[in-house]
Amino acid sequence: MKTALITGVTGQDGSYLAEFLLDKGYDVHGIIRRSSVDYRERIAHLEGTPHFHLHYADMGDSMSLVKLVGKVQPDEIYNLAAQSHVQVSFDAPEFTADVDAVGVLRVLEAVRTNHLEKTCRIYQASTSELYGKVEEVPQSETTPFHPYSPYAVAKLYGYWIIKEYREAYDMFCCSGILFNHESERRGETFVTRKITLAAARIAHGMQKCLYLGNLDSLRDWGYAKDYVECMWLILQHETPEDFVIATGVQHTVREFATLAFHHAGIELRWEGKGVDEKGIVEKILSDKIQGIKEGDVVVQVSPDFYRPTDVVNLLGDPGKAKRELGWNPQTTSFEQLVELMVRHDMQKVTREHFNAAEYLEKGIVK
Ligand code: NAP
Ligand code: GDD
Repeated sequence: MKTALITGVTGQDGSYLAEFLLDKGYDVHGIIRRSSVDYRERIAHLEGTPHFHLHYADMGDSMSLVKLVGKVQPDEIYNLAAQSHVQVSFDAPEFTADVDAVGVLRVLEAVRTNHLEKTCRIYQASTSELYGKVEEVPQSETTPFHPYSPYAVAKLYGYWIIKEYREAYDMFCCSGILFNHESERRGETFVTRKITLAAARIAHGMQKCLYLGNLDSLRDWGYAKDYVECMWLILQHETPEDFVIATGVQHTVREFATLAFHHAGIELRWEGKGVDEKGIVEKILSDKIQGIKEGDVVVQVSPDFYRPTDVVNLLGDPGKAKRELGWNPQTTSFEQLVELMVRHDMQKVTREHFNAAEYLEKGIVK
């Protein structure tokens, strides 16, 4: 039985990867941080499962990482922990650098300190944000980097320190340069999930309007569940190499919103430009839609969501992963991804709506 250690196990990718590795028969160890609320939503269903173990540690605390790596003696480490929100990295740049840059170094040194550098393989969660102010489209493993946020600059350090330790100490450590990947477990402040939740709430009459930033931004969006397989494939490859993981298909934020509202039963039309652009209800597609009517404005632009520097043209070339890892980048299409996220959030909002109504009826909430 192989042993894997996942940093960031409570996150979107960490939770899917834990399920994937447990299915493959791994003994899976995950790092958690102490928090004042102890409920870990994405992995709650795994807690208590044989071969699934959680340990307290922190990417900012070398000692905790050294002790844990020594205790677990992993065959594979998946370093997914990060302050992963680009906009937040402008507000907390030092914390982002500590966790996303120096944190990677701490993991590498924890492996060396425990003399595991010849046996332990390391996956680093790298990112298409490295291409930033892109120098070519599509982006591949040979495209020059031009990071365009504190997050991307920190992740660039992570990318290079992985490469350095691979060459200096002959370690099997690799970066997966992953393009955006989403799911029903995506954090609620990333644009896709913000849209699918808002579309569901607006359809249920529980929200009036969704405020977004740059609607023209282009992303190559894939499904997180498909992407964790690739992380594993990268570590099973004969030689340690870096791979771009993407679908090779690009859409704007506006296109994502249009399709998400469609699946929620609302046909949108767009009017205006820049900060004055608005998403207006063109047609209501279901008699279950409550609280809105044709002509209502349900999407508006707010400059609050503009970034000091924004990455606006990401499109990945997954050719190398297809050829060398045998990975299929089109397992879940963009259309299927949007539909599954909206379906999930319609159910979630229905449950919330029902619970709220029940509480109100019982006089619990006034
Ligand atoms: P996520 O949902 O934000 O999860 C981040 C994880 O990191 C959480 O488990 C979080 O723990 C943990 N973490 C943050 N700071 C930590 C610290 N100081 N010590 C220990 N753990 C810490 O991110 P994700 O979408 O799953 O992404 C996983 C990784 O892939 C990240 O490194 C991200 O930068 C990278 N990436 C993501 C994408 C994407 O589109 N999703 C694309 C490219 C690269 P808490 O739950 O306690 O906060
Ligand atoms: N979050 C957010 N909220 N983004 C918005 C909004 C909004 O209201 N309106 C427009 N956007 C635009 C952003 O300006 C950006 O261009 C795009 O939507 C995507 O934003 P996010 O969903 O926040 O993701 P990201 O691309 O910045 O970062 C994600 O993907 C990276 C890989 O490219 C994160 O998962 C990173 O951790 C990851 O490395």
